[in-house]
Amino acid sequence: MTYKHFFIKAPIVSLSGQPSILFDGKQANLLEALEYKKVKVFSECRNGFCGACKTKIISGKVSYLTEPLVELEQDECLPCCCIPQTDVDLELAPISNSIHRVKNDSSSTSPSTTHLYPEKV
Ligand code: FES
Repeated sequence: MTYKHFFIKAPIVSLSGQPSILFDGKQANLLEALEYKKVKVFSECRNGFCGACKTKIISGKVSYLTEPLVELEQDECLPCCCIPQTDVDLELAPISNSIHRVKNDSSSTSPSTTHLYPEKV
């Protein structure tokens, strides 16, 4: 038996081709690993139910800890409930694209407030 049987390389997570994270398993899933590195990913349920965190996979494979309830294309994943199986390259949606901003009518006498909610759920 050689050292290759003992050591498995931790997957590298890249963001649009830029290596960003070595997924060493200290975080429970890909979403937590990204957030640990201060990468903002829009999320809601964090359990594979809503699809808010849906992310495009440019290359690589992920495996799911729990089966997602959201329909996914071949090149999409839900970071909240998966871990990288191989090195992966992700294309994160800009956070501003994931959130739809609504302002109250300016003619209203009440103070202006901004509500944030996901565009698609
Ligand atoms: S946050 Fe809901 S599916 Fe990932």
